[in-house]
Amino acid sequence: MTDTPAIAAELRRLLPHAHAPYSGVQVAAAVEGADGRVHYGVNVENAAYPQGLCAEASAISAAVTSGTKTLRRVYVASSLPGLVWPCGGCRQKIFEFSTPGCVVVTVGRDGQTASATIEALLPHGFRLDPADVRRI
Ligand code: THU
Repeated sequence: MTDTPAIAAELRRLLPHAHAPYSGVQVAAAVEGADGRVHYGVNVENAAYPQGLCAEASAISAAVTSGTKTLRRVYVASSLPGLVWPCGGCRQKIFEFSTPGCVVVTVGRDGQTASATIEALLPHGFRLDPADVRRI
């Protein structure tokens, strides 16, 4: 299992890499795959606002790009004073790749943490079995 203080330190280091000139809110995320490797991402905003990307989505893209499609832990940190939890869309994105009991850890500016399973954050998340889709 990953070491939360080490990941938290890396997330703090990455926050200035966020591209957040419109909201001013920097977010960094890490996702730990079932193989133990950790992938990072930051939010990437755009002048065309809806084109902006959340940090969790960036981290998931990095994981999938490197061949990881099963997540067992997700970490989120931001420049805001309080703890930040993934937005609704990111909960669904995490759910897509989560293993049962996948834990989301939110990390505050002073190192305080809170955690919850993805099932608690997104009850009755939407899943499709590709075999069923092909049959429709
Ligand atoms: N943001 C994330 O990166 N992750 C979330 O789960 C919530 C929001 C970003 C999007 C936007 O760039 C900024 O935070 C303010 O909404």
